[in-house]
Amino acid sequence: SSPLRLGIAGLGTVGTGVIRLIRQHTDLLRSRTGRSIEVVAVSARNRTRDRGIDLSGLRWHDDPVALAHDADVDVVVELMGGAEGSARTLVTEALKAGKAVVTANKALVARHAQELAHLSHEHKAPLLFEAAVAGGIPAIKMVREGVAADALTRLGGILNGTSNFILTEMAETGRAFGDVLKEAQDKGYAEADPSADIDGWDAAHKLSILTAIAFRPIVFDSLAVSGMRRITTDDIHQARTLGYAIKMLGVARRLPEDRVEAWVQPCLIPARSGLAQVNGVYNALTTEGPFSGPITISGQGAGEGPTADAVMADVIDLARGHGLPLWGRVDEQAPISCEPVESLV
Ligand code: HSE
Repeated sequence: SSPLRLGIAGLGTVGTGVIRLIRQHTDLLRSRTGRSIEVVAVSARNRTRDRGIDLSGLRWHDDPVALAHDADVDVVVELMGGAEGSARTLVTEALKAGKAVVTANKALVARHAQELAHLSHEHKAPLLFEAAVAGGIPAIKMVREGVAADALTRLGGILNGTSNFILTEMAETGRAFGDVLKEAQDKGYAEADPSADIDGWDAAHKLSILTAIAFRPIVFDSLAVSGMRRITTDDIHQARTLGYAIKMLGVARRLPEDRVEAWVQPCLIPARSGLAQVNGVYNALTTEGPFSGPITISGQGAGEGPTADAVMADVIDLARGHGLPLWGRVDEQAPISCEPVESLV
């Protein structure tokens, strides 16, 4: 059968990782999907930067939005980031053109869920975003498909790799915050603007997406978010002597009468608990439902390899013809505001 042809916008850590992964696993991908998966076009800001991969033979678009109108592209893979600007225009135009879209852009999906879901339905264009939540962990799959028929009551966990990496290093080595953050940036974990990681917004975007899928859409700005800037090495050591670890958690809970509570903040958790053992760039997601009980998955939440593989999870679904329509009910329900919660810190 015909190859599935990708156009990739954004050649940073994740974009180059996707190209590398496709090239290394060409045969494996063909045997898993029955089709070949090819990158045919790319777009990025800097054309000349050495990315350590051969880009010759690929069609280059200076304007990423041109990928939406490239007749040789079946799937637009948006890896630029940013809730507005070119990323939003590209995704919108691609859906309107009836192309499938795979994106790792959590800010975009969290803030424009309703509009994107509507376009996806109207133009019968799948929109998939496994890589937007928790890097290599199949978080979206777990919430959409892993819990087959249950109505979840609670979900959440450690949803940002950079802040967990920093907290872990502070606890274990006492290194300075800025030094560890620089390492997270060098390793490709941090967002372009790392304050999104430190101040909880990145985790909040992910929590908002999971909440929309599992419960109902929420007004993003009504989420209670507080970051980790005020946590000192001293706090972490004090907590440890009392038998606790400090972790940045994001949790959402279904309340009676279709209300939702959702927050992101640093929490004290028992040092012997499972979540306290999730260290470094690892993320963890727990779901709870009356039938399914508690389920926890954990794995690397950021970085080239895991995030590139999460992008490919969606591409493989499309290659197999499984472009599931996005979010069951999201397009029918207006977003609601989260219930206010008192800050724990
Ligand atoms: N900056 C994010 C993190 C990347 O550190 O978790 C993955 O979404």
